[in-house]
Amino acid sequence: MDASPPHTDADGVWHGLQLAPGLAQPDEPLAEGEAASLVVHQGVLRWVGPAARLPAAWAQAPRHDGAGLLATPGLVDCHTHLVYGGQRAGEFAMRLAGASYEEVARAGGGIASTVRATRAASEDELFACALARLRPLMEEGVCAVEIKSGYGLALAHERRQLRVARRLGQATGLAVRTTFLGAHALPPEYAGRSQDYIDHVCNDMLPALHAEGLVDAVDVFCERIAFSLAETEQVFAAAQRLGLPVKLHAEQLSDMGGAQLAARYRALSCDHIEHLSQAGVEAMAQAGTVAVLLPGAFYTLRDTQLPPIAALRAAGVPMAVSTDHNPGTSPALSLLLMANMACTLFRLTVPEALAGITLHAARALGLQDTHGLIAAGRPAHFVLWPVAEAAELAYWFGRQRAHTIVRGGRIVQR
Ligand code: NIG
Ligand code: FE
Repeated sequence: MDASPPHTDADGVWHGLQLAPGLAQPDEPLAEGEAASLVVHQGVLRWVGPAARLPAAWAQAPRHDGAGLLATPGLVDCHTHLVYGGQRAGEFAMRLAGASYEEVARAGGGIASTVRATRAASEDELFACALARLRPLMEEGVCAVEIKSGYGLALAHERRQLRVARRLGQATGLAVRTTFLGAHALPPEYAGRSQDYIDHVCNDMLPALHAEGLVDAVDVFCERIAFSLAETEQVFAAAQRLGLPVKLHAEQLSDMGGAQLAARYRALSCDHIEHLSQAGVEAMAQAGTVAVLLPGAFYTLRDTQLPPIAALRAAGVPMAVSTDHNPGTSPALSLLLMANMACTLFRLTVPEALAGITLHAARALGLQDTHGLIAAGRPAHFVLWPVAEAAELAYWFGRQRAHTIVRGGRIVQR
């Protein structure tokens, strides 16, 4: 099924644009406020710079009027759990009545309830409802998205989630990176047998799914209500044997030292990290691990423990921002709203928040050579916004429409 809108070729010279500061690498210096041109040829960005310096070779190319719009790279949502059955509005009500996330989880709600609904849904149902959730992200300019498994928790069910994720990429043309999160929660069949389940994840599930080409990275929920540090390391070692990069749901509810472990395995990212210690910050800085901030989950859980933003900034750890879209803690479908929340709740600066949903998010997925930056030599993924300045992207919330979206050298929205 093709779920993408009709598209046309973006080849030619896009002129009269503003470039969002820090998110483009011009070939010729641009004075502040100077109109920029982008050259797209055969779907690839070939040149970025001031109109007056446009190389003669492109002078006759077709022209697209940028009309003063602001250009950013295509957005990247680097942490989602988009494929699942059901929803958890009932739990939202329980938490409003005073129950904590941990209490709901221990009472059989939480992840376990989504596992039941996901197992009960057909693959086509999973695809259809995930596609419906992906659309608002796409309409906002998301060009690359990470999708985790972790609501199947059995080989056949994890496989379905990952297959649906792959199908979503094929149907929409988005760059979809799949992450195997078999170690998300203990499935009911393994109650009281956590070690047996982790052995099964490492020895059976991961190798099989990897052999089927369904796994781009491996993640674990390392937490006192999920898996221990030793269990996490066992999964990381299994991933490493297969040559797969790792990521970690780390220090969300407590400081488990997960970030230091993840850094030893050169993790792409540590995500959540509200309780991250200074030692964790330093380990991530050394390993080049991206800090993925998830203000939607922080907000939904009415968390008060802020991630250590100043320490991350001081240590030079790249900070990404993502929706963490999931039915329990972050039913969010706007990445720009997350940028707004990262500023308001976490005190990121606007340039940090915008780099967080582009440049650093791409790095958290290992897509730093193709996504997250407007620069010559990369596939043409960019978004044009009807705003006077970049800060507007993080300032408005609840309304912001991309004017034009170019993805993979195609105009997919205009
Ligand atoms: O990223 N932290 C663990 N996983 C999800 C929540 C999953 C759920 O509650 O369904 C998260 O917040
Ligand atoms: Fe998550």
